[in-house]
Parts: sequence; C-alpha cells; structure tokens
Amino acid sequence: MLSEKMQEALNAQVNLEFFASYQYLAMAAYFEAENLLGLANWMHVQSQEENGHAMKFYRYIHDRRGRVLLRQIQEPKTEWASPLEAFQDALRHEQKVTAAINKLVDLAIAESDHATHSFLRWFVDEQVEEEANVDKVIQDLKRVGDSTQGLFMLDRELAGRQPEAEEEDEAE
Ligand code: FEO
Repeated sequence: MLSEKMQEALNAQVNLEFFASYQYLAMAAYFEAENLLGLANWMHVQSQEENGHAMKFYRYIHDRRGRVLLRQIQEPKTEWASPLEAFQDALRHEQKVTAAINKLVDLAIAESDHATHSFLRWFVDEQVEEEANVDKVIQDLKRVGDSTQGLFMLDRELAGRQPEAEEEDEAE
C-alpha cells in the first residue's frame, strides 16, 4: 500500500503530466495555425507522450491499491511571440517536471518505499532525454535565427518525428 502522502504526491504528478500533454497540444495548435506543420507534429507527438506518462502513474497508483484522483487541469498558454519562445517555455516546463520527479524520489527514499523508488527510475532517465530533446530544437531554432528558409527546412525535419515505440506499447 502507498502512504497517504505518497498517494497524494503521485496524484499531483498525474495532474502535472496531463497538464504537460494539454500544454504541448496548445503549442501544436499554435504551430498549426502558423502553418508550421512539422513543429506542430513534434508537439503533437510530445503531447501523446505526456499522456502516456500520466497513464503510467495512473496504472502504478492502482497497482499499489491506491486511488487515482483526477483534478482540474490548469489552463495552458496559447500564444507565443516566436517558435523559439514556445520551445523555451517547453524546456522550462520539462525542468519543472524533472524537479517534481526528483522530489518524488526523495519522498520514496524517506519512506523506504522501494517499489515506488524503482518505478520512478524510468522517469529519472526519461527526463534527461526529455530535456535534451527540447534543447536540441532550441539550439536548431537559434541557429536558424531569422532565416525563413532555415525554418522551412527545420519544420520539414521535425515533421518526421514519430511516437516512441514504448508509448505505443503502453497503449496496448
Ligand atoms: Fe512527462 Fe515531459 O515529462
């Protein structure tokens, strides 16, 4: 069984992951409206991945005979001055998620909850990748600068992003 405190903390993470999914979908919609369909695809895939993260927590809470309590999801931001600004927001969000995961690990250690500690390992590793993926696009956007042609090329490249295999398996 999960402690009350751990259950509450895991439920807060479910909410944060669903918010991430919603926020990335809002970014996808922004890019779609700007006719940057590759950037929109990248965000759409990211939104799906976040949904997968939320569901991993959802399933884990129930596997430990806990109770999932879905709460109101914060309204996402919908406008940005540039693609770079949107991706910088995304990085800030990922850093916030990393800090939240680290706090969950701290709590698991403090409670000697080995199962939760083990479950969280995947997320610790995933956050390294999540931050790196967003940062890669930020670096590309900085290099592109004001070049319309550069943005066009980057947009085409990001159109090729596919959902990760694991997230597809999760849906089974
Ligand atoms: Fe689920 Fe991007 O953190």
